[in-house]
Amino acid sequence: MPAQHLLSPFQLGSLSLPNRLVMAPLTRQRSLQPGNIPSELNATYYAQRASAGLLISEATQVCAEGQGYAWTPGIHSAEQVAGWKQVTQAVHARNGRIFLQLWHVGRISHPLLQPNGADPVAPSAIQANAECYVQEADGSHHKAATAMPRALALNELPGVVAAYAHGTANALLAGFDGVEVHAANGYLLDQFLCSNSNQRSDAYGGSAENRARLVLQVVDAVVATLGDSSRVGIRISPMGTFGDVHDANPQETFSYLVEQLNSRKLAYLHVNRPDWLGGSFDGFDQLLRALRDRYQGTLILAGGQTVESGEQALSEGLADLLAYGRPYIANPDLVERFAAGAALNQADASTFYGGGKQGYTDYPTLG
Ligand code: PHB
Repeated sequence: MPAQHLLSPFQLGSLSLPNRLVMAPLTRQRSLQPGNIPSELNATYYAQRASAGLLISEATQVCAEGQGYAWTPGIHSAEQVAGWKQVTQAVHARNGRIFLQLWHVGRISHPLLQPNGADPVAPSAIQANAECYVQEADGSHHKAATAMPRALALNELPGVVAAYAHGTANALLAGFDGVEVHAANGYLLDQFLCSNSNQRSDAYGGSAENRARLVLQVVDAVVATLGDSSRVGIRISPMGTFGDVHDANPQETFSYLVEQLNSRKLAYLHVNRPDWLGGSFDGFDQLLRALRDRYQGTLILAGGQTVESGEQALSEGLADLLAYGRPYIANPDLVERFAAGAALNQADASTFYGGGKQGYTDYPTLG
């Protein structure tokens, strides 16, 4: 079935999107070392995919403490800004639009990835039953269990918010069209949102309102830095369990959060289905419907989407835009393939993370 509604234009704030396909944020671990700096290779990869309505960059750490995997890019140094500038220029030269995803992994890390070998930070000192990816001093690299984190003190939280604002200012310098706050998939902001990873007894723990406080402060700081709420999106993953997070009452937590976000007139709310990252589908559709009904703005739906599921979500009014991840790894011309009803290349999971061109910029286009 060729796509129809998916190929219709969409107005996202002041950005005119030629279609409703979004390239989902995808960790690929291919930044230049040392320094986690985006390169010409990364620019080629994104530019190849520029016919998407909107590209969202791979998750990008806003500060050195925000890193949880070797070779992921940052947006906190001047070299990284210069590297990202090559990416945005290449995408804009192909008439594309690209947001940067602002990331802090919190407890999904290890002293080997942290400045001065420190412990990673988290809302509470609760170790995740999860993995990160480290590089040893001798250059060898491997998966590792995440370390026991240190609970952030109350007086450190303004510094965390400031790191997101700094990342946003740098994203503007680098020429991005906007930013997405990563509040999904068990990373720092999701660790604050979810009850099993946040056992704080101050104003940032306990009630849904308290657990949502940090993410809303981050959103407000990012909007203030950008000076335009219509250039700021946010990604959430209600009912996801990746990173060993679990919320006792996702309906209550995410309904509260979404109501608060609604009044902020953001570019979009990006909702990740529990798909490959694990989590429960039981009740997810009802929760998504409830969130959709509460949220008046643009909604992006991601996670295991096909042409058929995307068309259905659009026709049911469940989503306005559809994000594709694995299909975008393997099909730089996904828009053209959907338009032609053409077969898709299958993504090779062995080249998802790390390495060079292979499995990155060498997937063939049609014709
Ligand atoms: C990952 O590197 O496995 C990863 C990164 C960011 C996500 C999800 C997974 O949001």
